Amino acid sequence: MGKTIDTAEYGDLEALETALLGELDAAGDLAALEDFRVGALGKKGRISALMKTLGQMEPDARKSFGQSVNGLKQRVSDALEARKSDLGEAALAARLATETADVTLPVRPGPEMMGRIHPISQVWDELTEIFADMGFSVAEGPDIETEEKNFDKLNIPASHPARQEMDTFYFPTKEDGSRKLLRTHTSPVQIRTMEAQQPPIRIIAPGRVYRSDYDQTHTPMFHQVEGLVIDDSTHMGHLKWCLEEFCKAFFEVDKVKMKFRASHFPFTEPSMEVDIQYAEVGNEVRMGEGDKWMEILGCGMVHPNVLRAVGYDPEKVQGWAFGVGIERITTLKYGMPDLRPMFASDMRWLKHYGFLPFDVPSLAGGLSS
Ligand code: DAH
Repeated sequence: MGKTIDTAEYGDLEALETALLGELDAAGDLAALEDFRVGALGKKGRISALMKTLGQMEPDARKSFGQSVNGLKQRVSDALEARKSDLGEAALAARLATETADVTLPVRPGPEMMGRIHPISQVWDELTEIFADMGFSVAEGPDIETEEKNFDKLNIPASHPARQEMDTFYFPTKEDGSRKLLRTHTSPVQIRTMEAQQPPIRIIAPGRVYRSDYDQTHTPMFHQVEGLVIDDSTHMGHLKWCLEEFCKAFFEVDKVKMKFRASHFPFTEPSMEVDIQYAEVGNEVRMGEGDKWMEILGCGMVHPNVLRAVGYDPEKVQGWAFGVGIERITTLKYGMPDLRPMFASDMRWLKHYGFLPFDVPSLAGGLSS
């Protein structure tokens, strides 16, 4: 027995469609859309229920009613998809709007803003950046060194006054008569590097050094950076150029005034000490002007005895070296009146003179800005 469908059913379909599309418009988010889909097109949904009535109809009525319901189903499905993609886009746009990160904003105060990079570490990184740019690689050596590398092979024999002047911290003498020491300078890294490789050599060696000395300008542990260049023809002109470029880059100025004074070191011949000119204007230090001079480094042409000590032939290779006091150039650049607080671990001092972990020195970004 087929169910008779009167034309009123068609009217109901239109009403149903209007109602459904109205509900669709009102669905405000993807979850509401899903509810709608289940209620209209799901297995037990309203449109599916209509489809189920087809089986009981007369063939003619079934055909035309079936077509109408299918049309309705198709239009509602299309409208649902369209609404879904609109809502999806809107949801994405809203998410993007709330999750944007303005990378130009200052860093929020958090734990990462509490700590400070010690000025010595910062300057160490600055030095590495500057010399790496000039083609130097970084070499290292141990803090506990042998007398041979700290003194003998650097042309400082036991009888040499420099050996006494260095206020060396020694370890107890061993049974074989040898004794180790805390290196008094970074120069033994010259020996280690030359013993490990053949020229050409172009290295810097930043590191800790130790001397028994303590006052306003001396601490028993301090830092130096050693430089060494060896090849078959490099000369003092290169040394002076390199040091001048270094000073300009480090102090971030276009011009510096340097004084190369004749001096004496056992491991270089000739030897020089370098002073750099600066002015103190209030709290500010200005390089390249004024009437103050600070000694910042020692340098010279590597002594033939040193070349021989590492098995090089001084007739074939030559080179130059320098040793810079890192505390000296740090106090000068960052205007610190006293050296001792450097190693007192006083948070107030570190907050004032230290650097944020984000201030990674780079030549491109401006070393200290
Ligand atoms: N080692 C020296 C010192 O500690 C500094 C120095 C002077 C290093 C001259 C050098 C140099 O490489 O050529 O006082």
